[in-house]
Amino acid sequence: MTADTPSPRPDTSPQLLLGIESSCDETACAIVVDGRVVVSNVVASQIAEHARFGGVVPEIASRAHIEAINTVIEQTLTQADKTWDDLAAVAVTHEPGLIGSLLIGLMAGKTIAWAKNLPLVGVNHVCAHAYAAALDEPEPVEYPAVALICSGGHTALYHCQSPLDMTRLGSTIDDAAGEAFDKVATILNLPYPGGPSIDKTSREGNPHAVDFPRSLLKGQSLDFSFSGLKTAVLYYVNGIPTTKKPRSNPKPKPKPQRPVGIENFSAQQVADIAASFQQAVVDTLAIKLRRAIQQTGAKTILLGGGVAANSALRDTIQALADKLGCSLRKPAMKYCTDNAAMIAGLGYHYLQAGQLADLRLSATATVRR
Ligand code: KG4
Ligand code: ZN
Repeated sequence: MTADTPSPRPDTSPQLLLGIESSCDETACAIVVDGRVVVSNVVASQIAEHARFGGVVPEIASRAHIEAINTVIEQTLTQADKTWDDLAAVAVTHEPGLIGSLLIGLMAGKTIAWAKNLPLVGVNHVCAHAYAAALDEPEPVEYPAVALICSGGHTALYHCQSPLDMTRLGSTIDDAAGEAFDKVATILNLPYPGGPSIDKTSREGNPHAVDFPRSLLKGQSLDFSFSGLKTAVLYYVNGIPTTKKPRSNPKPKPKPQRPVGIENFSAQQVADIAASFQQAVVDTLAIKLRRAIQQTGAKTILLGGGVAANSALRDTIQALADKLGCSLRKPAMKYCTDNAAMIAGLGYHYLQAGQLADLRLSATATVRR
C-alpha cells in the first residue's frame, strides 16, 4: 500500500464526489455533483443513544459510527443509483471534532480512496458549514463574504474570500451557542437535543420577560462568550441573586416573587425563560455579525451550523441583511445540522484547486484556523 492517492481524473465531468462526515454524533454520507447538486444525502442520527445523558458521550458516539458507517455509505450509493466507478473523488471530514468519531469516517474515506483508486480530499468541518448555503442553490455564492457559524461545538465569524480562503475574525472563548442551547434546555427540563426544544418552546414565550446578559459587547471584539448566560439562567431558575448592578435607579425595585426550582415554574414561565435566553443569544450573534460586516465591508452573509436552523436567528439575520443591503445565504434546514453534502460540496473546490490529501491524512480534534 502506498501513501499516495491518484490525481483527479481529467475526463470525469460532471464530477461526483462522495462525502463522509462523522465528526460528532451523526454518521453521514452524500454524493454531490460539481460541488452544488446533491443527489443523495444520508444521515444516521445518534440522538436516541445520547438523549438520556443530555449530551454527546464520545465513546458511545464512536461505537455508533462504527455500527452505522458501512450501511450509510451503501445507502448513499443506492439512493443516487451510482457505483464507485461514477465517483471523481472521496472527501472526508478530518478536523475538528471528537477524535474517536473523526477516525471512523476518516478510515472509511481512506479505505475507499485506496481500494477504488480515487483521489482523497480532507475537509475542515467548520469551513464546510460555511459552504452549506451553496448546496442545491441555482446561484453560486458571491465572495467576499462574512460567515457566521454557530453549532454545538463551534461559534465563530469568518471573512471568506472564497470557499477555500477563510480567515477567522472571532470565536467563542468558552461555550458554543449550540452547547448553551443544549445546557439551558437541560436546566429547563426540555427534551434533548436542546436547540430545537428551546426554539419550539420559545414560540409560546415572551423574549423580553427576563433581562439575561449579553456578553463581550464592549469595544470591537468579534469573540463570543455564552457560559455566563447559561449560568444566569441557572441562577434565575434556582433563585440565586446575581451581582448585576441596577441600570439607573440606585434604589432597586423590590423583585417580583418567583418560584425556585424548575419544577415549580409554570409552562408559561418556562416558555418566557426559554424565549428570553434565545433572544439573548440571537441579539449577541446579530450584534457581532453586524460588526464583522462593518469591519470587512463584505456584501454577502453566510449562515451555517446547527443553530442556523433556529427560527428566531434566521428571521433576525434576514432583517439585518435587508437593513445593511447584504445578500443572506442560509442553508436549507437539512444542511444546517451535520451532514456530508457540505463535505462533498466543499471537497469539490479542494479537488478543483488540486489540494489533495494522501493516505497519511490525520484526524485533528481542535480548530486550527
Ligand atoms: O452543526 P451541528 O449539527 O453539530 C456541530 O457541529 O456541533 O449542531 C448541533 C447543534 C446542537 O447544539 C443543537 O441543539 C443545535 O445545533 N440546534 C439548534 C437548533 N437545531 C439544532 N439550536 C437552536 N435552534 C435550533 N432550531
Ligand atoms: Zn457541525
